[in-house]
Amino acid sequence: MIKKTMVVAAAALLGSSFALAGDVARGKEKSAACAACHGADGNSPAPAFPRIGGQHEDYLLQSLLSYKNGSRKNAIMAAQVGALSKQDMADLAAYYASQDGPLVSRR
Ligand code: HEC
Repeated sequence: MIKKTMVVAAAALLGSSFALAGDVARGKEKSAACAACHGADGNSPAPAFPRIGGQHEDYLLQSLLSYKNGSRKNAIMAAQVGALSKQDMADLAAYYASQDGPLVSRR
């Protein structure tokens, strides 16, 4: 009985993480709005905007979720994530994580 409950719980956990798995291609489509500040590949040359290309996917998703729930406060980014669903944010995180990071893109 306990075993069965654990299997069900594990399946539920796996299910929820699969539901949030980011899709790189869809993230790219959704990134048009972000490119103005962060650059097309997430490596904006402007120092005012953090480079997010090549950053860890879970860090990016966590950041976006935090702007959305208000635990990370920034007026600019709060406005950006306002209309995004969790799936949108997961897709965006997957896309930027798949790009080169600053050390590679500067070469
Ligand atoms: C108007 C300019 C602007 C736009 C458009 C914009 N951002 Fe940002 N973004 C910023 C600024 C400024 C920060 C730094 C905020 C802070 O200090 O927390 C930031 C921070 C971030 C961070 C956290 C980076 C880190 O290193 O912690 C992520 C992730 C991010 N943006 C993703 C996005 C995504 C995805 C989009 C498109 C939906 C987007 N941004 C659109 C200006 C912008």
